[in-house]
Amino acid sequence: MRAPVYSSLLLVASFVQAQQIYIGTTGPTPRPQCSVSTSLAQPSYTFRNFSFTLSETVRTATSIPSPTTTITYGPAYSDASRILPYINYTSWGSWNPNATTSASDASNPYGSAAWTSLWQHANPPNFTEKGLYSTTVSPTPIPSNELVLPPRDYFGPTDCYNFPEGFMFGVSTSASQIEGATAEEGKAPTLMDILVQDDRPKDYVTNENYYLYKQDVERVAAMGGVRYYSFSIAWSRILPFALPGTPVNQQGLDHYNDLINFILDKGMLPVVTLLHFDTPLQFYGSNLSTAADRPLIGYVNGAYQNETFVDAFVNYARIVMTHFASKVPYWFTFNEPLLYSDNGVSVDHVIKAHAQVYHFYKEQLNGTGQISIKFNDNFGVPRNVSSPADVYAANHFNSFQLATFCNPIFLGEDYPDSFKQTIPDYVPLTADDLAYIGGTADFLGIDPYTATVVTPPTPGNIGSITNCAMNSSSPYFPYCVNQTTVNQYGWNIGYRSQSYVYITPTYLREYLGYLYNTFRSPVVITEFGFPVFAEAEKTDLSDQLFDTPRSIYYLSYLSEVLKAIWEDGVNVKGAFLWAPVDNWEFGDYDAHFGVQVVNRTTQERRYKKSFFDVVDFMKARGIT
Ligand SMILES: *[C@@H]1O[C@H](CO)[C@@H](O)[C@H](O)[C@H]1NC(C)=O
Ligand SMILES: *[C@@H]1O[C@H](CO)[C@@H](O)[C@H](O)[C@H]1NC(C)=O
Ligand SMILES: *[C@@H]1O[C@H](CO)[C@@H](O)[C@H](O)[C@H]1NC(C)=O
Ligand SMILES: *[C@@H]1O[C@H](CO)[C@@H](O)[C@H](O)[C@H]1NC(C)=O
Ligand SMILES: *[C@@H]1O[C@H](CO)[C@@H](O)[C@H](O)[C@H]1NC(C)=O
Ligand SMILES: *[C@@H]1O[C@H](CO)[C@@H](O)[C@H](O)[C@H]1NC(C)=O
Ligand SMILES: *[C@@H]1O[C@H](CO)[C@@H](O)[C@H](O)[C@H]1NC(C)=O
Ligand SMILES: *[C@@H]1O[C@H](CO)[C@@H](O)[C@H](O)[C@H]1NC(C)=O
Ligand SMILES: *[C@@H]1O[C@H](CO)[C@@H](O)[C@H](O)[C@H]1NC(C)=O
Ligand SMILES: *[C@@H]1O[C@H](CO)[C@@H](O)[C@H](O)[C@H]1NC(C)=O
Ligand SMILES: *[C@@H]1O[C@H](CO)[C@@H](O)[C@H](O)[C@H]1NC(C)=O
Repeated sequence: MRAPVYSSLLLVASFVQAQQIYIGTTGPTPRPQCSVSTSLAQPSYTFRNFSFTLSETVRTATSIPSPTTTITYGPAYSDASRILPYINYTSWGSWNPNATTSASDASNPYGSAAWTSLWQHANPPNFTEKGLYSTTVSPTPIPSNELVLPPRDYFGPTDCYNFPEGFMFGVSTSASQIEGATAEEGKAPTLMDILVQDDRPKDYVTNENYYLYKQDVERVAAMGGVRYYSFSIAWSRILPFALPGTPVNQQGLDHYNDLINFILDKGMLPVVTLLHFDTPLQFYGSNLSTAADRPLIGYVNGAYQNETFVDAFVNYARIVMTHFASKVPYWFTFNEPLLYSDNGVSVDHVIKAHAQVYHFYKEQLNGTGQISIKFNDNFGVPRNVSSPADVYAANHFNSFQLATFCNPIFLGEDYPDSFKQTIPDYVPLTADDLAYIGGTADFLGIDPYTATVVTPPTPGNIGSITNCAMNSSSPYFPYCVNQTTVNQYGWNIGYRSQSYVYITPTYLREYLGYLYNTFRSPVVITEFGFPVFAEAEKTDLSDQLFDTPRSIYYLSYLSEVLKAIWEDGVNVKGAFLWAPVDNWEFGDYDAHFGVQVVNRTTQERRYKKSFFDVVDFMKARGIT
């Protein structure tokens, strides 16, 4: 998941096709499905003996079947390990900040004392491990009374399409937002352990998924339909010392191996993201305050610009991929890199590290799965689609966030003007760079939570965008457009959530067309979700579980995905719900993005109505 968004020129042509919005109509909504006009008919009234006739049909979710075949997506580790350098597998245990004795191996650069000093250096604010669990919990079958489908909402999608064969329906999570156990089993500190936003207290427990992962996987499998389980690996659990040549944490490797095996055992397929915001602290050097520096580009300084970052990331990726290649069909290198990019060097490092990992996977490891990267951009739409300045602003906004990465990676083309105008320290890409980087993603991963209405900073004035791009003091920098959530007639663009997400399904369809036709690649919706307003404040659990606005969000979005596929010819290959369960939203738990709720005292999970509704929607449309 992602931080909220505050804030070239691609051809205007892509917007000319924006047929399904701004439909000019007069009079009431037509009802083409109604064949008989009733305007002149007279009803006839009759008395009858009353009796109760409504009955509820009881339906129960059915788990996906156990797998009957094993498919491999690359060589087994035993066959591939020879392509890695020598690895020293080590274990470090857990950090106890109250320990009264210290390790005696201070001379070992990677020993227990060195590991402990990583945590002492991080000095995480108000650190406490107050979780309920300290070892992996065995899963228990989900009681059938938890799997009874809820009452339907009255209004729902009316499409008649099915999802194409092989459409990937999944759920998506990230390590720091669910795992907990942050200083346990050898994990070293990351940016997420010191990230304190808006003075909100840190929480090191989150969902304790590190110990409860089997139950979490079991619960998703029990709903049926969900075939893909996407999670991120914490780099600092694999390589506590981050850099090439340092030892690998056996316990971290074992954990993710068990997680992958359990997902497979339950009939799902694992989808792995290598870095989801949790940069190891080593890349900040000795002064950790720099992690709070305001970046030129994103919202948080992810330290991608560090001079050792690219080699270290590629080394980490090689180790993880070589261990798990046979079992993992889909890999993502980075999650939403723009948001954690500090400057032009950060972007250069992300693109080049990504390309190296792709080439390693395809050409040295000979993996047969697919690789991509997850992008953020809450689709910018012109406030007035007839205004060239607003269309220019929308193209500027989207290209800055997407083409900056996608031009090189998908098209083998240079950065867009929107990026080069705005980030003067960008690293120029040579023809050789572009030849190496071009074509290094098998599809485009996008997290299209919502749409954003944009205009130039000065209405109607394209020059105000370019002036802003040259002035990092501008309040509109770096996007350099005025972002709003209201349309040109003053209405909200859609139903509002707790957060930056508005329900904007028709814009999703348009967005998918934009992505497919601009970057010429199949598209996977790698995250989408809706934090229902004030859900956390509802005192009755049963009210939290009856989450109709979230159902409307998911069903309307997925219905529009079908229209993009069947009516617009857009190749959308999958959709992943963010998230299977409410989680830590970089500061607190107030924004509930989950299709399950978590009791923060007991760690018990309960299914929300929307989870049943989405699975039912998918199953009714060909997903098994
Ligand atoms: C309605 O109920 C009454 C009393 O039970 C019964 O006598 C009568 O036949 C019923 N009428 C009809 C139309 O079913
Ligand atoms: C992958 O293929 C290349 C080229 O055929 C070969 O050199 C390399 O050893 C293979 N890698 C593995 C892990 O088998
Ligand atoms: C592996 O790493 C551990 C911990 O740093 C160290 O004690 C051990 O000597 C190393 N072994 C080898 C063979 O390098
Ligand atoms: C360290 O001790 C303090 C005071 O007793 C306690 O509140 C805290 O939870 C302890 N921390 C850990 C990680 O055990
Ligand atoms: C740490 O605890 C102190 C005292 O309870 C509190 O004032 C402060 O806000 C906390 N800081 C964080 C980052 O949680
Ligand atoms: C970059 O990371 C390395 C560790 O890999 C660290 O030693 C160095 O100080 C970092 N550089 C900066 C500028 O923070
Ligand atoms: C550490 O970094 C912060 C934020 O960039 C900076 O203000 C401070 O001067 C730095 N401290 C040292 C000792 O360099
Ligand atoms: C939209 O832009 C067009 C072209 O500039 C203009 O004619 C029209 O009045 C604008 N619509 C509104 C509602 O401002
Ligand atoms: C840059 O923007 C700031 C804030 O709006 C403004 O005060 C300043 O005059 C601008 N600089 C230039 C060169 O336009
Ligand atoms: C941004 O656009 C909105 C909607 O048109 C408008 O209300 C607001 O005043 C604009 N902001 C600025 C600073 O011009
Ligand atoms: C969490 O569980 C506890 C113990 O069962 C219960 O008292 C509490 O009401 C639950 N909290 C919520 C928000 O449901």
